Amino acid sequence: MTPFARVIGTGGYLPETVRTNDDLAKMVETSDSWIVERTGIRSRRIASPEESAASMAEIAAREAIEMSGKDGNEIDLIIVATGTPDRVYPSTACLLQSRLGIREGVAFDIQAACSGAIYALSIADKYIRSGAAKNVLVVGSEICSRIVDWSDRSTCILFGDGAGALLLEASDQPGVLSTHIHSDGSYEELLYCPNSQVNAETGNETKGYIQMRGNEVFKMAVKTLERIVDETLESNGLDKTDVDWLVPHQANTRIIAATARKLKMSMDQVVLTLEEQGNTSSASVLLALNEAVRDGRIKKGQIILLEAFGAGFTWGSALIKY
Ligand code: ACO
Repeated sequence: MTPFARVIGTGGYLPETVRTNDDLAKMVETSDSWIVERTGIRSRRIASPEESAASMAEIAAREAIEMSGKDGNEIDLIIVATGTPDRVYPSTACLLQSRLGIREGVAFDIQAACSGAIYALSIADKYIRSGAAKNVLVVGSEICSRIVDWSDRSTCILFGDGAGALLLEASDQPGVLSTHIHSDGSYEELLYCPNSQVNAETGNETKGYIQMRGNEVFKMAVKTLERIVDETLESNGLDKTDVDWLVPHQANTRIIAATARKLKMSMDQVVLTLEEQGNTSSASVLLALNEAVRDGRIKKGQIILLEAFGAGFTWGSALIKY
């Protein structure tokens, strides 16, 4: 029988330093009320100079492994989703593997901006279903603060740092029910982050900061996430009322509320973390899942819809029976 990929552990990590909207109002022309009204965000965490995507990933991963009761050496695949890797290479996944003291198996990064966790989960599910892996660690870890232009009020209010993790095992019990991922690279200009580069001939420097046409991204995100809800429910033969929890990517409360309305869900069934975390890109869905699992909101047997939308554009969903 084809095995399911079952979630057996979750973990998360947030850096200590809190940057509030009032702190930002001292840096750029903005206000707490504007940011709260337009985004739902009140504060975000900022990594210290000593921290990195791998160091934060390690803390989140250790939490997930501990919850699962597994030995780290049983993990045969590690996938890290990040847009802020420690190095160009080795991959952050290899750095994490080393930090966890795991010497065998496979480790690689994937890059799908804010949809990274859903992409990683989709790949993990396929590995487990095909029998190619038995225990897979999925991590999203981001230091967005290092690719944000802190003088650009249209982007610096949105992002935060953090890491989330989950551990999946091959099981005859469900499990991930389905995953759905998509990309359309023609929207590159609406949301991108160039490499930091110095032109060797002219000496001109390009700063690697997030560039976003927020309003256009917003509209696309709402439309696209509505479509992915339909696709996910249809492919499982389920009705909106069958979904117990929505665990969305945490970009903007208004985008999340639109998806909840599509599902005819009350906001009480939506896991929200962005108020105090902002948009942690590929970490956000995993951090939200971890929070709701650990505080007991998500219970065994419940149906959870995870979704995300990000640069690329990339978007996707995963339906899980917890
Ligand atoms: N404080 C005060 N005013 C501001 C700020 C700010 N921080 N930022 C922008 N404004 C101003 C603008 O200059 C503009 O002024 P104008 O009307 O005089 O020109 C006005 O506010 C409205 O600007 P909009 O950009 O139209 O505001 P909007 O309501 O769209 O909110 C936001 C902006 C919050 C960025 C929203 O568009 C958004 O959330 N977009 C989606 C972000 C997202 O989902 N990204 C995808 C994931 S990220 C990833 O993949 C890396």
